[in-house]
Amino acid sequence: MICFSFLLLILLNSNQGCAVDKFIAATYEHAVILPENSSIPVTAEKALELMNRNIDILEKAITSAARQGAHIIVTPEDGIYGWIFTRETIYPYLEDIPDPEVNWVPCSDPERFGRAPVQTRLSCIAKNNSIYVVANIGDKKPCNVSTVGCPEDGHYHYNTAVVFDSDGKLVARYHKYNLFLGEIQFNVPPEPEMVTFETPFGKFGIFICFDILFYKPAAALVVDHQVDSILFPTAWMNVLPHLTAIEFHSAWAMGMGVNLLSSNTHNTSMRMTGSGIFSPETLGPYYYNMDTEDGNLTFSTLSAHPRNSSTFFTPNWSLYANSISKFSPGSNVFRGHLFSDEFTFTELTEPQGNYTLCQNNLCCHLTYTVTVKITDEVYVLGVFDGLHETEGQYYLQICTLLKCLSTDIKSCGEPVETASTKFKSFSLSGNFSTSFVFPEVLLSKVHLATGMFQVLPDGRLTSHANISQEPLLSATLYGRWYDKDPAAQDAGSKILLDPTVYFIIIALCVVY
Ligand SMILES: *[C@@H]1O[C@H](CO)[C@@H](O)[C@H](O)[C@H]1NC(C)=O
Ligand SMILES: *[C@@H]1O[C@H](CO)[C@@H](O)[C@H](O)[C@H]1NC(C)=O
Ligand SMILES: *[C@@H]1O[C@H](CO)[C@@H](O)[C@H](O)[C@H]1NC(C)=O
Ligand SMILES: *[C@@H]1O[C@H](CO)[C@@H](O)[C@H](O)[C@H]1NC(C)=O
Ligand SMILES: *[C@@H]1O[C@H](CO)[C@@H](O)[C@H](O)[C@H]1NC(C)=O
Ligand SMILES: *[C@@H]1O[C@H](CO)[C@@H](O)[C@H](O)[C@H]1NC(C)=O
Ligand SMILES: *[C@@H]1O[C@H](CO)[C@@H](O)[C@H](O)[C@H]1NC(C)=O
Ligand SMILES: *[C@@H]1O[C@H](CO)[C@@H](O)[C@H](O)[C@H]1NC(C)=O
Ligand SMILES: *[C@@H]1O[C@H](CO)[C@@H](O)[C@H](O)[C@H]1NC(C)=O
Ligand SMILES: *[C@@H]1O[C@H](CO)[C@@H](O)[C@H](O)[C@H]1NC(C)=O
Repeated sequence: MICFSFLLLILLNSNQGCAVDKFIAATYEHAVILPENSSIPVTAEKALELMNRNIDILEKAITSAARQGAHIIVTPEDGIYGWIFTRETIYPYLEDIPDPEVNWVPCSDPERFGRAPVQTRLSCIAKNNSIYVVANIGDKKPCNVSTVGCPEDGHYHYNTAVVFDSDGKLVARYHKYNLFLGEIQFNVPPEPEMVTFETPFGKFGIFICFDILFYKPAAALVVDHQVDSILFPTAWMNVLPHLTAIEFHSAWAMGMGVNLLSSNTHNTSMRMTGSGIFSPETLGPYYYNMDTEDGNLTFSTLSAHPRNSSTFFTPNWSLYANSISKFSPGSNVFRGHLFSDEFTFTELTEPQGNYTLCQNNLCCHLTYTVTVKITDEVYVLGVFDGLHETEGQYYLQICTLLKCLSTDIKSCGEPVETASTKFKSFSLSGNFSTSFVFPEVLLSKVHLATGMFQVLPDGRLTSHANISQEPLLSATLYGRWYDKDPAAQDAGSKILLDPTVYFIIIALCVVY
C-alpha cells in the first residue's frame, strides 16, 4: 500500500518498479433516476440537474468504495441520464469529450474544452477520493453536414465510457461500437476502438454492454492486446436461460481468462440487475436482486495478472469430445426454440445416462446422474450450431443441459427461474469449431454455482459433488464462432430498435 500511494503521489505516469499483484475493485449497480419524459427536449440546465441527481448517488458509492480501499470503481451504462432518447432529446446531456492524449484533469482546468460540468465533477470525485472512476456519458463531435456520414443535425453522438485516474486525469475514452437495438440517439464510430491503459495493477481494456457478444472490440482486447482486466459498464436486460447478466458475464471472464468488472443498471421492470467482479477462477462476488429497487456496491480483491496464476490454463474445448465415440441420441429427439434459435433437444428420460446429440457440425456429449428424479420436471440436452438473428447477428455453437418451463416439451428453451431437481453429477462437452467457449452453470432462483463445477483441460464442464446441494436450472457451454459472423458489420446495416421493443421481443418469447 505504501508502494501504491507512493506511486500515485510521486511517479504519476509510471508503472515501473512499483507494480502490485493484487488490487481492490468495486462495481456499483445503480437504480438510475430517469428523465420525466425522454421524448420531450429539455434545456441543458434541466439535463444537468437530472445528471447531478444521479451523480450525487454515484458519488456516495464511489466515496464509500474508496474509504473501503478500492482502487477502481465501475458505474453502469446509462447510469447518469437513463435510456430511450431521440437524437434531439439526448443532445442537452452530451459534452465534448476530448481524446485522452490531451492530458487533461478537468477538475483543475474545467473550461479547457468548453462546457464540461459532468466530466469536471467525475474528475473531482476521482481526484478527491484517489480512486479510478469509470463512468458512461455521451460525447458530441461537430461535423460538416455536407460531408458523407455527418448526421443532418451536424454532430456525431457517441455512447461513451470514460475513465478518470486517481488524480482526476482523463485516461480513457471509448465510443461504443455495437449499439443495441433502439440506441437511435447515438452513432456508430467508423472503426471499433481498442482502448487500453496501464495501471500499477495491470493492463485494462474497456467496452460497453452489447459489445461483449462480438469479436471487436471485446475478444480482440484480450487476444490482440493481452489485457488483464476489462471494465464493463452495461444496461443489461436479462434473458434466460443463457444470457442473464451474472451468468454470461462470469462465463465470459472464465472463457477469456480475464477479470471482468461488470456494473449494471438496476430496474426490475426492465429486468436489469446483475453486477459483479468476475475472474477466470471465481464467479463473483455478484449482486442480483429482482425483489427491490436498490442499488448495491460490490467489492473484491483481484489478481492484477490473472493469467499468471499457477492454476490458470486455457482448455482445449474439443479435446475430450474428439476422443470419445458417440453415445445414443436418446429416444425422444425434437426441435424447439430458445431465444428464437432452433435447437435440437433430447429428453433425459432416466435418472442417469449418456447422450450424444448433434446439429450441423457440432456434437454435444452429456453424462449425468440425478439424485431424485422429480416427475413433474423435464430436463433436456440441447445443441445449436447456427447464426442467431434476433437482436443482432452472431454465430453460436451451444451445448446445454436445461430444465424446461413445464412438462410440455414444447416449453423447452423458454425462460425458467426455479427448479427442484438436483443433479448428483454431470459432464458436458462438445466438438466445438471455435476456441471461444463460455461455461455457465445456473442454479434455481438464478444463482451462480460458485465452486460447484470446473472446466477440465480437455474441455469438459464437470460438476463437483456439492452440485447436489441445490436444484439445477442449466449447465451450458456457450460457444461463439466469430469467424462465421456476417462479415459486413457496417454501421448502416446494423439493426436498430428501441430497447422497449427489445423488451417486448423478449416478452414475446416468454409469452407466446
Ligand atoms: C412523453 O411525451 C410524449 C410527447 O409529448 C407523449 O406523446 C408521451 O405520451 C409522453 N409519455 C409519458 C409517459 O408521459
Ligand atoms: C473532497 O473530499 C473532502 C473530504 O472527503 C470533502 O470535504 C470535500 O468537500 C471534497 N471536495 C470535493 C470538491 O468534492
Ligand atoms: C463544409 O463542406 C463544404 C464542402 O466541402 C465546404 O464548402 C464548407 O465550407 C464546409 N463548411 C464548414 C463550416 O467547414
Ligand atoms: C424502469 O424503467 C422503465 C422504462 O424506462 C420506467 O418506466 C420505470 O419508471 C423504471 N423504474 C424505476 C423504478 O425507475
Ligand atoms: C448488497 O448486496 C449484498 C448481496 O446481495 C447484500 O448482502 C448487501 O446487504 C447489499 N448491501 C446493501 C447496502 O444493500
Ligand atoms: C505477469 O504477466 C505479465 C503480463 O500479463 C508479465 O509481464 C509479467 O512478467 C508476469 N509476472 C509474473 C510475476 O509472472
Ligand atoms: C485441441 O485438440 C485437438 C485434438 O482433438 C487438436 O487437433 C487441436 O490442435 C487442439 N487445439 C489446440 C488449440 O491446442
Ligand atoms: C455412461 O458412460 C460411462 C463411460 O463412458 C459408463 O461408465 C457408464 O456406465 C455409462 N452410463 C450409462 C447409464 O450408460
Ligand atoms: C463433430 O463430430 C461429428 C460427428 O462425429 C462430425 O460429423 C463433425 O464433423 C465434428 N465436427 C468437428 C468440427 O470436428
Ligand atoms: C464444493 O466442492 C469443491 C470441490 O470439492 C470445493 O472446492 C468447493 O469449495 C465446494 N463449494 C461449495 C460452495 O461448497
